[in-house]
Amino acid sequence: MSTDVQLTPETVEQAVDAALAAVAGAGTVADLKAARIAHTGESSALARLNATIRALPNTEKPAAGKLIGQARGRVNGAIAEREAVLAAGEREALLEAERVDVTAAPLRRPTGARHPLTIVRETVEDVFTGMGWEIAEGPELEHEWFNFDALNIDPDHPARSPQDTLFVEPLGAHLVMRTQTSPVQVRTLIERGAPVYVLAPGRVYRTDEIDATHLPVFTQFEGLAIDRGLTMAHLRGTLEHLARIMFGEDARIRLRPNFFPFTEPSAEMDVWQPNAKGGARWVEWGGCGMVHPNVLRAAGVDPQEFQGFAFGLGIERTLQFAEGLNDMRDMIEGDLRFSRQWGLVAR
Ligand code: DAH
Repeated sequence: MSTDVQLTPETVEQAVDAALAAVAGAGTVADLKAARIAHTGESSALARLNATIRALPNTEKPAAGKLIGQARGRVNGAIAEREAVLAAGEREALLEAERVDVTAAPLRRPTGARHPLTIVRETVEDVFTGMGWEIAEGPELEHEWFNFDALNIDPDHPARSPQDTLFVEPLGAHLVMRTQTSPVQVRTLIERGAPVYVLAPGRVYRTDEIDATHLPVFTQFEGLAIDRGLTMAHLRGTLEHLARIMFGEDARIRLRPNFFPFTEPSAEMDVWQPNAKGGARWVEWGGCGMVHPNVLRAAGVDPQEFQGFAFGLGIERTLQFAEGLNDMRDMIEGDLRFSRQWGLVAR
């Protein structure tokens, strides 16, 4: 060990003073650790002074040992004291940083969002109002004449039986829960006359049992365009435009001959979904056709002057196909786990 140090009360005091100053100046537990190593470790001044004891005459060794021992005791005591203070301060700071105010208002407040059926309805409305069409409405409790007779539906047509239709008492009043939005065609023609372009979204009622593809109360949108010189080409173009917006740019439609009393010719419309979840497919989307002259006549419109087309589509079916949903019942049960997929968010 080096002999460049002289063990005297003064040199020990100097080493202790330097150690105490370093301990007092340590601002963190890590600083303090460094100070401890520097002032009490193997290469510290105190250690070097201690090493000189070996070379002293035996008579002086006890006093020298005591001197160093006391010096070490003071430094170690100061380190322990400082350590307690710093550790408490750091714990305090950590607790403060991690403080949780259990009385604060929660951050996760669910915000409302529209039901997917509403989103589909509004999207369809936007498509048609964007082309200059108007929105029309009619009552859900409808007169039999609007729901059936004016639409050229025979008195003995099966749709008019209590098996399909909810008749409302007293029966003599001839009121039904409307089974389709088509009566709005007649109301619109009577109220607004021709030419006219309207979209009529609304709820309809049938005696159907509820299952994955049937709801006794569901939503349709009815389209009616009456003008001079409208043809089936206009019908086709209009519906294909709608199909592309609802099902994507690659969607196509096809019309298959069918029968409806209120259109002639009538067609069933299928939509081609190349990107459907289960693979490309045709799905039956709704009915359409050229408005029957009898319907125009019932509404006081001259079929010689005005012609046009109509269509009726289900909003639930549209949502079902567009989103690849298996069970329509999910749409009406009000389970937020369903609706949330269309943007009900928690912030
Ligand atoms: N009203 C028909 C139904 O509920 C759908 C329909 C078919 C509406 C043909 C139309 C149409 O306007 O032209 O099944």
